[in-house]
Amino acid sequence: MAARAQSTTPVRKVPIHLQSAQNRLLIKNGKVVNGDGIQDADVYIEEGIIKQVGNNLIVPGGSRLIDARGKYVIPGGIDTHTHLQLPFMGTTTADDFYTGTRAALAGGTTTIIDFVIPSKGQSLIEAYKQWRERADEKVACDYALHVAVTWWSPEVQQEMEELCRDHGINSFKMFMAYKDLWQLDDTELFEAFERCKQLGAVAQVHAENGDIIKENCKKLLAAGVTGPEGHEMSRPEEVEAEAVNRACVLANQVNCPLYIVKMTGAGSARLLADKRGQGLIVYGEVTAAALATAAQCDMGSWSHGAAYLTSPPLRPDPETPQILMDLLSSDDLQLTGTDHCTFSSAQKEMGKGDFTKIPNGVNGVEERMSLIWEKGVVSGKMDPTRFVAVTSMNAAKIFNMYPKKGCIAVGSDADIVIWDPKLEHTISAATHHSAVDFNIFEGITCRGGPEYVIANGRVTVDEGQVKAVQGYGSFIPTSPFAPFVYEAVTEREKVHQLIKVEREGRIVAVRNTMVPVVPQATSNGEALELNLSSVNGGEEVVAAADHHFASHQHFTRPPTSSGGRNMQDTTFSLSSEYPNPADESDNKRSTIRVKAPPGAILPACGSRSNTR
Ligand code: URP
Ligand code: ZN
Repeated sequence: MAARAQSTTPVRKVPIHLQSAQNRLLIKNGKVVNGDGIQDADVYIEEGIIKQVGNNLIVPGGSRLIDARGKYVIPGGIDTHTHLQLPFMGTTTADDFYTGTRAALAGGTTTIIDFVIPSKGQSLIEAYKQWRERADEKVACDYALHVAVTWWSPEVQQEMEELCRDHGINSFKMFMAYKDLWQLDDTELFEAFERCKQLGAVAQVHAENGDIIKENCKKLLAAGVTGPEGHEMSRPEEVEAEAVNRACVLANQVNCPLYIVKMTGAGSARLLADKRGQGLIVYGEVTAAALATAAQCDMGSWSHGAAYLTSPPLRPDPETPQILMDLLSSDDLQLTGTDHCTFSSAQKEMGKGDFTKIPNGVNGVEERMSLIWEKGVVSGKMDPTRFVAVTSMNAAKIFNMYPKKGCIAVGSDADIVIWDPKLEHTISAATHHSAVDFNIFEGITCRGGPEYVIANGRVTVDEGQVKAVQGYGSFIPTSPFAPFVYEAVTEREKVHQLIKVEREGRIVAVRNTMVPVVPQATSNGEALELNLSSVNGGEEVVAAADHHFASHQHFTRPPTSSGGRNMQDTTFSLSSEYPNPADESDNKRSTIRVKAPPGAILPACGSRSNTR
């Protein structure tokens, strides 16, 4: 972690002619780490772009040389979840787009993705423009935007399209919590997922059941529970897990790619892993706070408890951070953000006497990279390539910034961190770069941190000294239909086509519900009979498959040559394992016999390996 900047006065944008001396950089002798491999190579940068990666590079004279011997050369971090200058719960976050992005750079993050959150009834485009105005003049690093859908109407649907088409937005967040403020109901959620799918966007959800939370808060306050501990009590893990499950089910009905933001419960994260195993296109984000702090929540003091208060809440079980880190290491969770949303101790005091009024949010934008290195790499759970995958590459792929961001390759933006695995730093509010007066990671020592941070070719952390420049960063427009996401969606769609089954002149078209099959064992424990709805004399009928039925159970695919699940070919046949309709005594019903061991879960169509 870089040392504290001497002054908090923003440094103005450096005129381009003064930047030129820094425009040519040669990073020598380092280990270049991408999400898919490590190589010993030098990196040459010019005008903000990586021009060469390799050995024995021929570069122009006058280039600045940085010796990275014994260090890793990694892509700058991408924080997928920040709230800078957010008006929320009657106040505005302590960090604005300058102090927040300066803190990001100090910790090795060179791109943030913030959330436009329109108020209920507000035009999405108008809110987007407000955010652009706030951010453009202040950001010290690059940024992109997600847009929250906080209300639902035909105008909102229209504006979602406009945002994707004209304004560089490819993700929309829907809240299942914050009832009466931002929450959508299930019908709205379903329609929003449908809309995201049409537009090629990624649907994000804040997964907590807002209806339950509202009722629990009333009960707790009535029972005299007014302190910050009431927050977690009002929204225990199952309240998160229920919403995760519901969001997955709804999104799956329309084959919409889903992204669950800032998961904090181990049960929710495991549930998401199961859904992925069943073939759903769903991604899980976890925050630095959830990976590093549960055991530190000391509810003994009001201000301490209030400082850690965020939604979904950090869980009291001290095992949770390690479980989440395990899941992140094994690709059951895919990427990390911070939900950096800071409020000072004085702002938190707004909720003295009523925990529902404590502004929700914690820090993390500066600490995320070092904490994940410490808890993930130093602990032996992940190697440096996985570290890069979860701190930048996967985010760049999901939000369609790859390979411009999240990658060290010729043509990529020169967003690079020289990561020193020997650097040791103890986190403290006394030395951090955020404007907030408290640090939830206070006292944690991280081994490993950024010695140099290069953003768009400019050295913004130089031997540990932060040299952020206000307004230096740019807005990064993101296009819809990210190949990483939508190729999987298209593949999944292919195997979920309507399937016509012909029997003696009658056709039954079976709709695939995209629901994983949980077969019911029969009394002899060997077979399962599933009834389709009626077939009538010789006409084509679309049979509404009941919830037990998913036609992908017929597709027993041989593995691909590489051993992965075969998404294309099928051994589908109406073989003798299906009853001959001529044998049926009741001609009005069609029966399919499916072989399944008792209690087995049949493979879901479109299950993919964890490379997605
Ligand atoms: O708890 C937090 N961070 N509140 C900010 C809004 C949100 O939930 O993302
Ligand atoms: Zn958030």
